[in-house]
Amino acid sequence: MKVIVRDSAAEAAACAADIVIDVVSGRPDAVLCLATGKTMEPVYSALVSAHQAGKVSFARTTVFDLDEYLGLAPGHPGSFQSYLRQHFLDKVDIGPENTCLLRGDVADPDAECRRYEALIRSRGGIDLQLLGIGRNGHIAFNEPGSDFASRTRVLTLSDSTRVANASQFADLQDVPTQAMTQGIATILEARACLLLATGASKAAAVAAMIEEPPDASCPASALHRHPKATVVLDLEAAQGLGSGRFD
Ligand code: GLP
Repeated sequence: MKVIVRDSAAEAAACAADIVIDVVSGRPDAVLCLATGKTMEPVYSALVSAHQAGKVSFARTTVFDLDEYLGLAPGHPGSFQSYLRQHFLDKVDIGPENTCLLRGDVADPDAECRRYEALIRSRGGIDLQLLGIGRNGHIAFNEPGSDFASRTRVLTLSDSTRVANASQFADLQDVPTQAMTQGIATILEARACLLLATGASKAAAVAAMIEEPPDASCPASALHRHPKATVVLDLEAAQGLGSGRFD
């Protein structure tokens, strides 16, 4: 696991965006998997700016997403699909035929999860998996206790995750109790993983991910098992790390 620390959240986000731009510049038909959350907003903003400045095109790029709330239609303002369209997809040149998103309002969520796994395989797998981290160490919506062999599936969200994500909803009661998420094994199959964490609220989860041996109590620690995992942090998120752990 390579750990990069930048002084500020803005610099860490810019570093993550540069890594994405490098991947897409080197391979214009790259397959990306996108993460949601406040942490990623400056990353998408930097990618949109780079696109508008003519520095990168996503015209041949395929995108997947990591997870989606169960029961929310794609147009629901709290859906991850809405988030990705608002912050990134509607502002760059990714074609609809290359936009592969989970649909939260399907009648058969288990079938949707199977469709998604098959779609990832049919597109040749994911080149770069973007990831955030939850305060309890979750990646995508793989909550603590998730099996490292898990695949895309439906799961119940913890109360703390629902509280952490409530700002996208009018009321805590409106936050769905279940979601679909890529599994940890699905995530680890990507050819490269890039996790971005910023802010002191993530420091404990980051320390558990990096300093502790891989364990289901911290799903993000599964990244130790990935041969090409990069973690980008700001100083606040890195404050629980021992010295000598990072560039
Ligand atoms: C949600 C998403 C995760 C994301 C996490 C952190 O739970 N499912 O993929 O990493 O939020 O979000 P934030 O960046 O807002 O802290």
